[in-house]
Amino acid sequence: MMQVARTAAELQSALISKKRILVPTMGSLHAGHTELIAQARKLAGSDGQVVLSIFVNPLQFGKTEDFEKYPRDLEMDLSVADAAGVDLVWAPTWEEIVGPDVETIQAPVFGDELEGKSRPGHFSGVLTVVASLFVHVKPAVAVFGVKDLQQLLLITEMSAQRFKSIEIYPVETVRDSSGLALSSRNAYLSNENMSLASGIYQALLQAKNAEDPVAKFYEVAASQEIHREMIDYAQVLVMPAGSKVLGQTRLVVAVHIGTTRLIDNIALS
Ligand code: PAF
Repeated sequence: MMQVARTAAELQSALISKKRILVPTMGSLHAGHTELIAQARKLAGSDGQVVLSIFVNPLQFGKTEDFEKYPRDLEMDLSVADAAGVDLVWAPTWEEIVGPDVETIQAPVFGDELEGKSRPGHFSGVLTVVASLFVHVKPAVAVFGVKDLQQLLLITEMSAQRFKSIEIYPVETVRDSSGLALSSRNAYLSNENMSLASGIYQALLQAKNAEDPVAKFYEVAASQEIHREMIDYAQVLVMPAGSKVLGQTRLVVAVHIGTTRLIDNIALS
């Protein structure tokens, strides 16, 4: 039966010494998360432990961002987690996971680029909380989605420096039938904006084999009514040596659809 821990003490007494696989989330679980859990379950095998954390991390939201209205439904998340095969959920309070004594982790300069340009301090907030999760859970492996590629690369780098024994395991993006990458923030989109947003993936797909993927992305996006001023960035990113993410280079994009900012990326051939 799935266990639920709220305090750090409850977490410690529920952790088993066998292989622990951590799936860090901010809740509002969707099929993208259940894929992370499925991969974690495979890695854990029958005797390992899949630990899912649920914490809406205020440190990674800017002053004008959606921390207050970010979707939260713990009961629903617990039933999704249970059905997906999680062994232990840790849903800590702010005091338990961050508190006044937490070590703040400064993101390297890459954290100021792309997402970091629009969201100053975002990645320091992410890294601070993920480091705290690693310290508390001490997993063998932590699983993260490739949709948040910059986050994945920064966590991989932090882990290589500070948590050498933890393997960071990337999981490819899950999409709906229109190609839209699953995200908790899709809940903010109207039906009309949902179909507009699916144009992001259509543009990524066509850019994939283009000689100039960035130019092709802008061109196809415009034909899908996603105009230049809606695109925050579209950039080719070279994956670091030893990266386990598919593709040596990936096209990463951020697009404003109505009041919602969506990110996505694709491996270039
Ligand atoms: O990707 C997320 O849901 C969050 O950024 C994470 C990794 C759980 C840290 O709060």
